[in-house]
Amino acid sequence: MYLGLDLGTSGLRGIVVDESGQVLAEADAGVETSTPQSGWSEQAPADWVEACQKVVAQLRTANGDAFSAVRAIGLSGHMHGATLLDSNGNVLRPCIMWNDTRSAPEAAALDGTPEMRAITGNIVFPGFTAPKLEWVRRHEPEVFEKVSKVLLPKDYLRLWLTGESISDLSDSAGTAWLDVGRREWSDTALGHGHMRRDQMPELVEGSAIGGQLRPEILQNWGLSGPVIVAGGAGDNAAAACGIGSINEGTGFLSLGTSGVMLVAKESYAPAPETAVHCFCHAVPGRWIQMGVILSATNSLNWLSRNLGQTVGALASALPDRVDGPSSTVFLPYLSGERTPHNDSAIRGAFLGLDIASDPKALTQSVMEGVAFAMRDCLEALKGTGTTPESLLVVGGGARSRFWLETLATVLNTPLALPKGSEFGAAIGAARLAACASQGIDPADAMIPPETAEVIAPRTDLCDGYENAYQRYRQYYAALSPFSAS
Ligand code: XUL
Repeated sequence: MYLGLDLGTSGLRGIVVDESGQVLAEADAGVETSTPQSGWSEQAPADWVEACQKVVAQLRTANGDAFSAVRAIGLSGHMHGATLLDSNGNVLRPCIMWNDTRSAPEAAALDGTPEMRAITGNIVFPGFTAPKLEWVRRHEPEVFEKVSKVLLPKDYLRLWLTGESISDLSDSAGTAWLDVGRREWSDTALGHGHMRRDQMPELVEGSAIGGQLRPEILQNWGLSGPVIVAGGAGDNAAAACGIGSINEGTGFLSLGTSGVMLVAKESYAPAPETAVHCFCHAVPGRWIQMGVILSATNSLNWLSRNLGQTVGALASALPDRVDGPSSTVFLPYLSGERTPHNDSAIRGAFLGLDIASDPKALTQSVMEGVAFAMRDCLEALKGTGTTPESLLVVGGGARSRFWLETLATVLNTPLALPKGSEFGAAIGAARLAACASQGIDPADAMIPPETAEVIAPRTDLCDGYENAYQRYRQYYAALSPFSAS
């Protein structure tokens, strides 16, 4: 049995799977995010440990026999977060999260250093880890001088589980301290960020061994050792493992809090000028390219909060089939944007509001706005020479048929829905655990799920959505001069 743990932005998910990949128990526990100031986003690392304890307790209740047979654990987590530890391993301040944009000036300064893009293969986005440490250096020098180790969120969980400071390459690629092509820390990039190699965890591949459970935890959880903890992965690389995307051109579209269009690469192909992310994959010798938008289902969550209706109620007011674009346009830049604009100052907008605009019309335009932003990601990926050969859709947004058909039509690409319910980062993490503990070849473990259904673009409506997309693109250019920076 393998335990996959995925530390998501809104909570931690755990699954126990057997050798054949069948899920025998599953559990979730929420984690709160605080926003002490506009653009800030923080979590308390102690809450991740508490969520992990809760998830394990639920898994043991759900299927104690399966849980007690767990022999390896795989970790996945939201990327880029800066968890700062002093020399005694104590947390120095709340974790600054991936969607926190406070360090935009520091990111721009680092990004302006020509070597940074060449070494890291990426724009230094404000969400990445290095600019966060620069922000701490400037604004909280008393904290900065005590930083002995910087861990990514899932690696803080690993420290608690194993006592070791280790990270994997897919997650570390999002720090802006890694030489992503060589798959090792870069002293030059670290130096530009006023950091040192001894403040970094040891690096392993995601499918390799990355520690063992501490005896105390083995005992508390009723496990007999040794239990191996795999290197694991950042959530996107883990999700790619979960849907079997490790071969060139395969990938997914994820409609989660953030929206991601990911394509697996068999070679290192950075193209930072396109604002496409290029990270190491969780398996050796592979990389991923991703277009990332910051507010996908989060745009709908925002609308739901403000209209006082649940997301489910908003979504179910729409039909299953689309019948042409809305005349109201939504720009989903509620927290700024990464791909393709790299603009942390831009904010969202509704344009073309009508006296007749009602919650249903607003929901449609929010879904369309997110679809247009994902189309921007597709165009950016194409700009790097990558065209996804096939795209599976994952994430909570995939529950809306209307949204799926909108996306397929706006992207003019068929979208495959995987069969089964568990194909996200947690299953990818469990697969990495199988590779690390049994020496299984990742190519044999990372198998695509069966397709339940293919959502085809509505060819009769593609022209109408194409025109609407072209209008949407002009709005960013028109509005960006007015955004506060
Ligand atoms: C990727 C990114 C997000 C987070 C959140 O670069 O920032 O997808 O990993 O899950």
